[in-house]
Amino acid sequence: MTAQIYAPTQANLHRLVAALHEGDLVALPTETVYGLAANAFDARACQKIFRAKGRPKADPLIVHVLGLQQAALVAELNPAARQLARAFWPGPLTMVLPKKSVVPDAVTSGLSSVAVRAPAHSLFQKILRMAGRPLAAPSANRFGCVSPTTAEHVQEGLGRQIPHILDGGSCQMGVESTIVDLRDPDRPRLLRPGVISAAQLETVLGKPLVDIARASQPASDSPIAPGMMKRHYSPKTELHLVRRITARLAREADRGVALLYYRKPANPSSTKGRIFWMSSDGSSRTAARRLYAALHAIDRLSLRCLYVEAAPAGAGPEAAAINDRLRRAAARR
Ligand code: TXA
Ligand code: MG
Repeated sequence: MTAQIYAPTQANLHRLVAALHEGDLVALPTETVYGLAANAFDARACQKIFRAKGRPKADPLIVHVLGLQQAALVAELNPAARQLARAFWPGPLTMVLPKKSVVPDAVTSGLSSVAVRAPAHSLFQKILRMAGRPLAAPSANRFGCVSPTTAEHVQEGLGRQIPHILDGGSCQMGVESTIVDLRDPDRPRLLRPGVISAAQLETVLGKPLVDIARASQPASDSPIAPGMMKRHYSPKTELHLVRRITARLAREADRGVALLYYRKPANPSSTKGRIFWMSSDGSSRTAARRLYAALHAIDRLSLRCLYVEAAPAGAGPEAAAINDRLRRAAARR
């Protein structure tokens, strides 16, 4: 199989919706990263997602919906969930809630909860409207690898495993959604930091969040929450996370090494290393948008290793998400 990349014409959208109805997988753009979508009510189609990604069956999928009305079909909503949805949907916020029985076990890995999010990308929304049902979709990459932010990234990673990719250009936000566990609305837990910061969620909820993502750093590969693996989002190139790429480190890094600065350096201190940066202006928003594209570009060079600068303290609301992904990408196998 070789995946076909489709331009977003009306005729192609109809073709891809028909493919979803038939139980095929379609990679779709969202505002965060590309997703690998299937009809959420079709257990067999959802099982194909796990095979295509090489994803463990115990790692459940996010169900994508148009909004609260469709979310109510798959999840038991509570006031906290409604409050957050009104503030942040459509957008990069995923909520874990008690599931309804229509959701197949294949989607939730047999859990009694389901993760739901309303994506903000207009093409994903069009497909949801035309399909008339929720779509289950994890990020469209091989399990554990760097998430895709362009149709070409999806093609490179999964081109031989899936039939269809809808091209929606580069993803606006560039890192995955924030995930919050609201099964107990009195004790909301942050499962994965994302573009929407913990502080923003706390402001709307009016209470503090328990941060599971940071609590799960101990040396173990077994997830505390499903999917919260210590090693994840890893490029093929060996990644070393540093606080700053100093001039001395850059000089030491001779041929065979890439350097990924957080901010574009005024005077790059090495000419032998291959030099990349996440952000020209230092804002965490642009850094998040470019992070995965930089890692994909570096992987294409087949270098020995890579030094990456963490987002500095106070860089902005996306810094926690960037550093969470970099810590997991740097974790040893
Ligand atoms: O931005 C995003 O969220 C992207 C786009 C495509 O929407 N999706 C995404 O999906 O990042 P994925 O599968 O790569 O990450 C979803 C995470 C996994 O770590 C999974 O274990 C967790 O959400 N998850 C899903 N359902 C869950 C549940 N019921 N309880 C706890 N964690 C859950
Ligand atoms: Mg993923």
